[in-house]
Amino acid sequence: MAIQNDREFGIPQSTEEKVSELIQRMNLDEKIGQMSQLQAGCGHIPDHLADDIRHGRVGSVLNEVNVDVVNELQRISIEETRLGIPLLIGRDVIHGFKTVFPIPLGLAASWDPQLIKQTCRISAQEAASCGVNWTFAPMIDISRDPRWGRVAESLGEDPYLCATLGAAMVDGFQGDKLSEKGAIAACAKHFAAYGAAEAGKDYNTVNVPENELRNVYLRPFKKLADSGVASFMTAFCDLNGVPATGNSWLLDDVLRKEWDYRGLLVSDWDSVIELSVHGFTHNDKESACEAVNAGVDMEMASRSYKHHLQQLVDEGRVDLPQIDRMVARILTLKFDLGLFDNPYTSAADYPALVNVDHLEVAQQSAAKSCVLLKNDNQVLPLNADQMSSIAVIGPLADDDYEQLGTWVFDGDPHHSVTCKAAIERLVGDKLDVRYCKGLQTTRSESCEQFSEALELAAQCDATVVVVGEESFMSGEAHSRASIDLPGQQVALIDALAKEGKPLIVVVMAGRPLTIENILDKADSILYAWHPGTMGGPAIADLLFGFQAPSGKLPVTFPRAVGQIPIYYAHKNTGRPVSDVNCLSMADIPERPEQTSLGMASFHLDVNYRPLFPFGYGLSYTCFEYSGIRMARQQVALGGQVEIVADIKNTGHCAGEEVVQLYIRDLVGSVTRPVKELKGFQRVLLQPGEQKTITFTLHTDELAFYGRDMQLNTEPGSFQAWVGGDSDARLMIDFDIYDDE
Ligand code: BGC
Repeated sequence: MAIQNDREFGIPQSTEEKVSELIQRMNLDEKIGQMSQLQAGCGHIPDHLADDIRHGRVGSVLNEVNVDVVNELQRISIEETRLGIPLLIGRDVIHGFKTVFPIPLGLAASWDPQLIKQTCRISAQEAASCGVNWTFAPMIDISRDPRWGRVAESLGEDPYLCATLGAAMVDGFQGDKLSEKGAIAACAKHFAAYGAAEAGKDYNTVNVPENELRNVYLRPFKKLADSGVASFMTAFCDLNGVPATGNSWLLDDVLRKEWDYRGLLVSDWDSVIELSVHGFTHNDKESACEAVNAGVDMEMASRSYKHHLQQLVDEGRVDLPQIDRMVARILTLKFDLGLFDNPYTSAADYPALVNVDHLEVAQQSAAKSCVLLKNDNQVLPLNADQMSSIAVIGPLADDDYEQLGTWVFDGDPHHSVTCKAAIERLVGDKLDVRYCKGLQTTRSESCEQFSEALELAAQCDATVVVVGEESFMSGEAHSRASIDLPGQQVALIDALAKEGKPLIVVVMAGRPLTIENILDKADSILYAWHPGTMGGPAIADLLFGFQAPSGKLPVTFPRAVGQIPIYYAHKNTGRPVSDVNCLSMADIPERPEQTSLGMASFHLDVNYRPLFPFGYGLSYTCFEYSGIRMARQQVALGGQVEIVADIKNTGHCAGEEVVQLYIRDLVGSVTRPVKELKGFQRVLLQPGEQKTITFTLHTDELAFYGRDMQLNTEPGSFQAWVGGDSDARLMIDFDIYDDE
């Protein structure tokens, strides 16, 4: 056995030595084999795969989660190959494995890095118990276009939030050490700017100037590279004319040379051979050449490396030392994961799948992800002691599958608890809980079940209607041009509103939807994203006040698709809009002179403000911010900026608030956003309680890439706001000066 052979050679000291010794023993075929990742057979081992592994032509397999099959794959790789190198087993463990947590965009709405880390820890343990040792997560693509289906899989629009939560995810997946039980390698994807696809169409062209790329889209990737994420994945898109998978500036100059990133870089599915579809290369051989020379260590799914690398090396177009460096990164990860010591998995070594502790975290994370957008007359929380019946209506009120959301390869809907089931469980002994769908699916155009729904609503004290979009309407290749509530859902809400009973709308969706048209119909709106396995109990707890909502939007909600991209950290422009200079269609006289119109940056036919700003979310109590102050408002470059403010719970129940710090750099060598998130803290406040919150920033945290593409903090005047969303008004000025 190869492992024993290694022992006969004597155990080298460091991983680096072990890797280089192994590479010296490998022939070119075996090296190219390590650079190939193949699709598994899902529950069995196809003969061709076994054969490829046996001949050393495979470094990694993806999408096999049957532990016996995985162990057999590892056995073939160890015992039946010349060198006995174990396999990386990859899987998209995106927001849970068997226990499904809210979609990443929902998790981001919790603004709770510790909790998110815990969800990833559990996901890693569950996946590892089935032999998976590598997940393709987190996705840290900045997403400012809710038409894009993969916004569901993202952590939202903001580089700071995305970087902070993405790093927490990596910590959760990878643990303290990759070799510890239950740790799996994480993957920062998709490098880079995939979320900026034109028109929000998946896979579409991306054009982002270098300055914007560095200041916005690359920031989370840099943070994860620095915090030790084990791998990166390239993006499908064409970035400024050069597809990301063959983009040597991005992959080599920036990632390897500038950032000194040492981890493994994998392509996306077939993205190497798609270089020719982009029109960037003539054929698969040229694609392999471009991808390898740009630095893509491992090819996912397609086989252009296998078929062409040998010849490319013979022709002198790819260097052997380059191949060795790439293989070294792959082998290093295998050593780091401890696979050379033991590549096999025994499920008995791990906690049971979907156990009560996992479900508890699933419920907590779902509860903290829900964002209360509206709550007129404090209709919520409902008081079960003062009601006798409740109508639970809607196509998503009792659908165990759809509440799981996109990317749930392994999630089992049988574990899901729906809203209807949870409400029955929670208050069924006190209330008559009456249910009907109202619409067959979210897309149904037939209103034939409306009369039943209206009758129920008329008979009950309050109505909860659960609407939204099914899982498949977001996710990869599932973009939408209209992001309204689909089908006849708005008509259903209109009709229910006319019943005059308290109407609570719960929205389950993979993106912000344009819901201005239901705003004045609903008394309360709770945005639950796709909340996962325990979505029902989390929502029921919130509706009946066993917990207060505390989620905050990780993305801006547009009023209309025409406003997209709309995000809080926009630039000021030369003609910024305000309440004073904006117009609405109604203000415009019959035959106006062009120049008499407000000459500002806005649309005539829609209120310029978003429907809900980034960071927004209500609670059952109110928070009052005051007393913003700084011990020093003049701070030397290299020093600490300390901003302090008070927050008080002025309502009658306890609540958690996410206190947010925003900064504006007033003048820069390139224009700066009107506000940028620079910190946040979750605080729990009892009724009447006041706390003092302190944010401390090093002046380096105010750095940005200037006209020279260097990262610097430029001295000058700044503003800081502390508040409960990106519309925060409590502001203080400060200056940074250079005392050199
Ligand atoms: C997606 C990746 C994913 C890969 C493997 C691709 O289609 O873009 O995010 O990790 O498939 O499933």
